Amino acid sequence: MSRSESNEQHPTIAWAGDRIEIIDQTLLPEELSIIELSTVDTVVDAIYRLAVRGAPAIGVCGALGIVVGLDERRPRDISAARQCLDDLVDVIGSARPTAVNLRWAVERVRGAAIVGSTPDEVRALALSEALAIIAQDEDSCRRIGEAGRAELAGITKIMTHCNAGRLATAGWGTALGVIYAKAAAGERVHVMVSETRPLLQGSRLTAWELQDAGIDVTLMSDGSDASAMAAGRVEAVIVGADRIASNGDTANKVGTLSHAVNARYAGIPFYVAAPLSTFDISLVSGDEIEIELRPESELTTCLGRSVAPHGTSAWTPAFDVTPAGLITAIITEVGVLRPPFTTSIRQAFE
Ligand code: MRU
Repeated sequence: MSRSESNEQHPTIAWAGDRIEIIDQTLLPEELSIIELSTVDTVVDAIYRLAVRGAPAIGVCGALGIVVGLDERRPRDISAARQCLDDLVDVIGSARPTAVNLRWAVERVRGAAIVGSTPDEVRALALSEALAIIAQDEDSCRRIGEAGRAELAGITKIMTHCNAGRLATAGWGTALGVIYAKAAAGERVHVMVSETRPLLQGSRLTAWELQDAGIDVTLMSDGSDASAMAAGRVEAVIVGADRIASNGDTANKVGTLSHAVNARYAGIPFYVAAPLSTFDISLVSGDEIEIELRPESELTTCLGRSVAPHGTSAWTPAFDVTPAGLITAIITEVGVLRPPFTTSIRQAFE
């Protein structure tokens, strides 16, 4: 199914009664195609191959995926339904390891549904919890946007990396939510986006999404950030997150750490924007965050062509960890968290 709509007209992810509908992000920007996920295999595959991606969006997809799984497996009695929930949490929850939102969401749905006393009730509770996660994410994005707008008042030239916008959440995004909030308030804003090799979420997705929303955006290669900062093209950097440890260390798309180091050298503030569902307060530091390794072919090829000699070995972490010491503040739905993060994060969860 292919439609000529914009992202504002079709949500990134939606529940369609008996299946999930997502924008297939692997096809953007050339094609806006909506695909249906009506089996657990298609849900796991869509998450793994980044047809749906971004920490909150994969959480939402996983949550709805539990309902898809219950519909597909049709447990006959309550003990089979409970067993089914456990299996689905394992299978869907491990589709990608770094973004904690996925595990958080499937476990939250399991916790809400397990108390049902019939398979139908389990399914109804699972769906209502998944829909609550969507509503909560939308609301968190709004609040992050507003908190970020106040924090970045007077700042026009903003750099971001990867995609932490509409395509990555159930709402208008986290890092890009701040941009949208500024634009909605009539503030001038210009976004510098790094292309985000190897899968080009910056150029394929963020540039597309911001253009679609009528926001000024300039694309640059990943290695241009330091010179863009030196040339005065960037007043602040803002990125999303996949997992934030209790000390503020933040895993996000690979390349984020270089931008944070360069921002520090240039004396430019470096912000992380994320909902509380992205925090993993069971972790003391970012050293404990599992970093996903992607297939080498994602680096040795680009858009279907070989870009390295046959047999080249490649190191392919999908994320890196920015130490808390390089982060100016973390913008959340409960306010702007500042160093020392161990204290501000603990207070945010109290
Ligand atoms: O591999 P991806 O595209 O899922 O990585 C996405 C990111 O790193 C985002 O910055 C992060 O998930 C935050 S999305 C609000």
